[in-house]
Amino acid sequence: MDKILVQGGRRLEGEVAVSGSKNAALPILISALLTAEPCSYQGIPDLMDIHTALRLLSGLGVRVEKEDDSAGGIGQITLQADRMNKMEASYDLVKTMRASFLVLGPLLSRFGAARVSTPGGCAIGTRPVNLHQKGLAEMGADIDLVHGYMEAKAKRLHGARIYLDLPSVGATENLMMAASLADGTTVIENAAKEPEIEELASVLNKMGARIQGAGSDIVKIDGVNKLHGVSHRIIPDRIEAGTFMVAAVLTRGDVAVRGARPDHLDAFLLKLKEAGVRLSVAADTIRVKGDGKAKGVDITTLPYPGFPTDLQAQMMVLMSVSDGVSVVTETIFENRFMHAQELSRMGADIRLEGNRAIIKGVEGLSGAPIMATDLRASVSLVLAGLVAKGKTEISRVYHLDRGYEHIERKLSALGADIQRVKG
Ligand code: UD1
Repeated sequence: MDKILVQGGRRLEGEVAVSGSKNAALPILISALLTAEPCSYQGIPDLMDIHTALRLLSGLGVRVEKEDDSAGGIGQITLQADRMNKMEASYDLVKTMRASFLVLGPLLSRFGAARVSTPGGCAIGTRPVNLHQKGLAEMGADIDLVHGYMEAKAKRLHGARIYLDLPSVGATENLMMAASLADGTTVIENAAKEPEIEELASVLNKMGARIQGAGSDIVKIDGVNKLHGVSHRIIPDRIEAGTFMVAAVLTRGDVAVRGARPDHLDAFLLKLKEAGVRLSVAADTIRVKGDGKAKGVDITTLPYPGFPTDLQAQMMVLMSVSDGVSVVTETIFENRFMHAQELSRMGADIRLEGNRAIIKGVEGLSGAPIMATDLRASVSLVLAGLVAKGKTEISRVYHLDRGYEHIERKLSALGADIQRVKG
């Protein structure tokens, strides 16, 4: 297994370009199941999760065409779901990547049947899919759980008024896709408001869907009989952008994060300002100068527009070396502090009390062999390595490869001493 080696203490400087958003790209690729016409996407990041999604789609019979760009990344992906031969997502794929579960709604609404494995728990919590199931049932689907698989049937889904007990991102996406081809109007109340939801709705609308209110907590979808092809460029990854900003502050560097959308990062940017970080924000570039010790700040993760859980681990690293005491409260996932133990091994002073982490800023961290446990935890360990004294050796980096495109290359270009050792 590969390892990442980081020699800490280098100041990051320069400009870094943000890749396309993983969490926007995944449901959008899956939305190609809703039409027989070709759908082309640009700005898809070259990540393990994207390759898993493409494997899943091609296993269903979707034709996948990939064009490389001049830098060796993905230039354009074209998908065409006109010769489908399977309506099933296997346990192997869904357990590797939970977003695979999003094929349920589109398959059911376009083809009337689907068999999709339930995802099971994961490193950060139990993560049930009951809201997806409940919503589809309210739209008339007949759903049975057989051998860990949800087997769903519906002659044609019908519109429904659906209240989500929690504003789940995945459930909102699954239901929005299903409702686009349903008979009549669906209203999703307490819908998730993440930018990725708005992005999916705008792609679906380009395909001929009639969705209003995406990005607010009430989304209204008037079902249509047919959707058509689309060409679309994916929005930049707000979590990757935030990660580079934390890297700049930690190393007391000066980094321009190009392509970052400030409107998608409001709560995060306000927290950085509260921590005393100097930011200059332009339309699509955020420049971060970290010229002193940051101040400790309290953070509570919340659904968008609250502070994103996907930036919690990165902020915890920053708080570990900031002035004073900070409290990080995680309200989205029940077990998302796995990085805390690893950071403690590097000298951080973190006490866990249920869903709260109390962090006393220390003078510095020191390098150690540590282990990545999930996607965002793994990048937080890379960040810790950048600021630690000496060498940090991170194992199980496949978590990192699921969600960060060319991370070593991007950080090296900014001056970090980071390399991958092939295992
Ligand atoms: C998405 C993101 C993930 C992010 C998360 C929260 C993708 C591919 N992933 O995950 O990076 O951390 O949003 O911003 O976009 N829940 C239920 N029942 C359900 C569905 C969810 O109880 O049927 C709970 C979950 O256990 C969790 C909370 O709702 O506690 C939020 O989950 P959800 O918004 O669905 O996250 P994902 O879509 O899985």
